[in-house]
Amino acid sequence: MKLIKHIGVLTSGGDAPGMNAAIRAVVRTAIAKGVKTSGIYHGYNGLVKDEVKPLTMRDVSYIISRGGTMLKSSRSDEFRTKEGRARAHEVIIKHGLDALIVIGGDGSMTGAKIFQEEFDVPVIGIPGTIDNDIFGTDFTIGFDTAVNVAMECIDKIRDTASSHDRLFLVEVMGRDTGHIALRTALASGAVAVLVPEGPMSINELHEHLAYLKSKNKSSNIIIVAEGNPTGNAFEVAQKLEALQPSYETRVSVIGHIQRGGSPSAADRVLAAELGTFAVESLLEGARGVMVGVIDRKMVRTPIEEAINQRNGLNEELLRISDYLSV
Ligand code: F6P
Repeated sequence: MKLIKHIGVLTSGGDAPGMNAAIRAVVRTAIAKGVKTSGIYHGYNGLVKDEVKPLTMRDVSYIISRGGTMLKSSRSDEFRTKEGRARAHEVIIKHGLDALIVIGGDGSMTGAKIFQEEFDVPVIGIPGTIDNDIFGTDFTIGFDTAVNVAMECIDKIRDTASSHDRLFLVEVMGRDTGHIALRTALASGAVAVLVPEGPMSINELHEHLAYLKSKNKSSNIIIVAEGNPTGNAFEVAQKLEALQPSYETRVSVIGHIQRGGSPSAADRVLAAELGTFAVESLLEGARGVMVGVIDRKMVRTPIEEAINQRNGLNEELLRISDYLSV
C-alpha cells in the first residue's frame, strides 16, 4: 500500500457551518503526523481546474469560529463527466496528492466514491451539510447550527405571533428530509411540523388547530420542511385559509440564513472529531469510507452504504413532539 505523505482536502456542495473547523482539524492532524496538506478551492471544480494550494498550520488560524468554507464550494457539472474526472486526476498527479478528504453532502460522497473506483485514489468522506440526511452518522457538520439559527428566528417570530394572535407558517430548509424541521419544531415549541417523511394532511392540521382553539390557544407556529409534499409554507397557508377563512396566517421562509453564521460548539467539536479521525483513518489504511459519530463513538461506513441508505427521522423526537405540540 502506497504511503500517504500528502493529502488534498476540499469542501463540496452546499456549505455548512463547521466546515472550516473540519478543514482546520484535517490540516493540524496531518501536520502532527508529518503529512502535508493542500487545499483544493471551489470543490471538485477546483480539482478539475487546478486550484490547489498547500495549507500550513497558520493558514487555518482563526477559522474555527467562521461560517462558510475558506476553501469555497461548488456543485460541479464537469466532475460528473468522465473527462472532467480524468483532468482532476492529472491535477492530483501534478501536485503529488496521495489521497483526498472530501467534506460535503451525499452528492459529494458519490463523486468521491466514483473517483476512487476509477483512478484508485484513496478517499475519505466527512459528512458536512445542514440537512443531516446522510446515513452513517448521528449528525452531520452544520446541522446543529442550522437548527439553532432557525430556533432563534422562530423565538422572534413567536413574539409577534402572540401579540397579534396569529398563525405562522415557518419554512425551514432540509431538501427532501425533515430533520431540520423536526428538531427546530421541538426546540421552538411549534404546534405542528410538516415533514416529507410522514406528512400531515391539511385536514389533520386543521383539526389539530381547531382542538388547540378549543383549549384557548390563540397563536400558533407551524414548521414546514421545504420538501413537504402537501405544499410549501405559502401553499399550506392558502389551503388552511380556504378551509377556515378566519385563520389569520403569515408566512416566513428562513432560507439561507440557516446556512450562515458562526458554528455552534456542537458543530465545532464534531468537526474536530471527524477531521482528526479522517486523517487517522487514511493513515491506518482505510479507503472509500465516510467517517461519522454514532452513539458518541467515531465510526467508519463504506461510502457506498452511506449514499445508498437513508438517515431516517428520529422516531423518539416524533413521539415526544406528539405530546408537546399543544
Ligand atoms: O443541502 C443544503 C441546502 O441548503 C438544502 O437544505 C437546500 O435545499 C439546498 O441546499 C439549497 O441549495 P442552494 O444553496 O443551491 O439554493
